Amino acid sequence: MTENASSAPWWASAVFYQVYPRSFADGNGDGTGDLIGLRSHLGHLVELGVDALWLSPFYRSPMADGGYDVADPCDVDPLFGTLADFDDLLAEAHALGIRVTVDIVPNHFSDQHPWFQQALAAAPGSPERARFIFRSGQGDQPPNNWPSVFGGPAWTRVADAPDGSSQWFLHLFAPEQPDLDWTNPEVPAEYERVLRFWLDRGVDGFRIDVAHGMAKPAGLPDMDPALVAALADGVHMPSAVDPRWDDDSVHEIHRGFRRVLDSYPGARMAVGEAWVPDDARLAAYVRPDELNLTFNFELVEAAWGARPFGAAIEASLAAMSEVGAPCSWVLGNHDVDRPVTRYGDGADGVRRARAAALVQLSLPGAVYIYNGDELGLPNVELPDSALQDPTWERSGHTMRGRDGERVPVPWSGTTPPYGFSTTASTWLPMPDDWAEFTVAAEAAQPDSTLALFRAATRLRRELDGTDFAWLDAPEDALSYRRGGVTVVVNFGSAPVALPEGEVLLASGALLEGAVPADTAAWVRTSG
Ligand code: NOJ
Repeated sequence: MTENASSAPWWASAVFYQVYPRSFADGNGDGTGDLIGLRSHLGHLVELGVDALWLSPFYRSPMADGGYDVADPCDVDPLFGTLADFDDLLAEAHALGIRVTVDIVPNHFSDQHPWFQQALAAAPGSPERARFIFRSGQGDQPPNNWPSVFGGPAWTRVADAPDGSSQWFLHLFAPEQPDLDWTNPEVPAEYERVLRFWLDRGVDGFRIDVAHGMAKPAGLPDMDPALVAALADGVHMPSAVDPRWDDDSVHEIHRGFRRVLDSYPGARMAVGEAWVPDDARLAAYVRPDELNLTFNFELVEAAWGARPFGAAIEASLAAMSEVGAPCSWVLGNHDVDRPVTRYGDGADGVRRARAAALVQLSLPGAVYIYNGDELGLPNVELPDSALQDPTWERSGHTMRGRDGERVPVPWSGTTPPYGFSTTASTWLPMPDDWAEFTVAAEAAQPDSTLALFRAATRLRRELDGTDFAWLDAPEDALSYRRGGVTVVVNFGSAPVALPEGEVLLASGALLEGAVPADTAAWVRTSG
């Protein structure tokens, strides 16, 4: 693992690759991805030019929310393997020059975690209950009007205690994910132990789940009912203030994480998952003594178009530069529709997703690629009976949830399970028409999406540094300069002139001297 030629730490411009372990590669034939499957496919990531992995949770979990309900954060769930499998994976990734970062989930535990089981067995007011957020209700109603992210109220009532009282506990997500009380010193102490456990094993950093959620405002005030209604209508990042998130006191928690990271050699890092719509407030998470990176979700939220993309890039660069942090560009993850689908599916969706990838991979900062996006996979329309995301049940079958972007990765062959597993009974069914999307098929096609990603990550190394300057462009296009490279992206239908120079890479076939609709090009220009 070589350090950057500049003095910037490795993560400042790294290509991170998110592995959703259930869906990457199944090594033991049970239909679910696992650590030995991942290890045996590291070669794909080397070819792809990946610098670091982010592994979504593989810890002991009843899997009520795909592993984001953690029952033991210091052990591997048997579904995914063993701690020894993890150590082997880490050693092999490091030997191949790939760093490994793992998820931590500090906002909540699983309801099967021993702490929560002890809390249920203990009385109201006990130290066991004080690790979580237990409160009395208002008559038969919950303590406040907060909704859960997955639908329904954010409170669940527990069985009556022997003294006749009956409390409610807070869960911003599913009832199987009780929120921890970070004002209780036992909680940060436990998380310090968790961080050290993985750092001591050699991980290079963490992705902090719900980094904007751990601190709750004093008194847990009601939300504006208009906001509750907007959220019920599916608005994801409403502009109104939402008391469930981004409380000022969360920053002290991140300073604590940073102190632990900095006590280890080797530039260990953390990236925060903070869905904070206000740029200045988002930037606060990456002040010099807090997290190293925070996802810039504005790009993933941007509709296909020059203005939305331009505004997302501009706002993110400005906000991060205020605090001296690099951007972390995101186009996909396990919680959002895949780019191909967001941009319209079919041929349009594929063309636009390829162009968007060339935008993402040309920007200064770190990038995160979600497994399968390098193949141009679309979301899958799954039958009701296959859905596993808790959102589906919690919303009373009105929101289908995130399974469509979690279908296993196809590796080879022409029929399901496409080399992902030895059984066709994969944890989510794989479509019959994915033969063209397998890694093997795309590796053999010079114009495939995989070939485009491989070329882009290779060329990206030439775009070192943080320089970025907008250039004039027609209304439906964007153009900017990075290093000696000019990037032109045509979001509209009329062709856009190519600048003079050597075309290094294009997301689709170019016209004579022009970039056609929904296409991006990287051109080496002088001056
Ligand atoms: C964010 C994770 O990315 C998502 O998958 C999960 O459901 C929630 N946090 C709760 O942990």
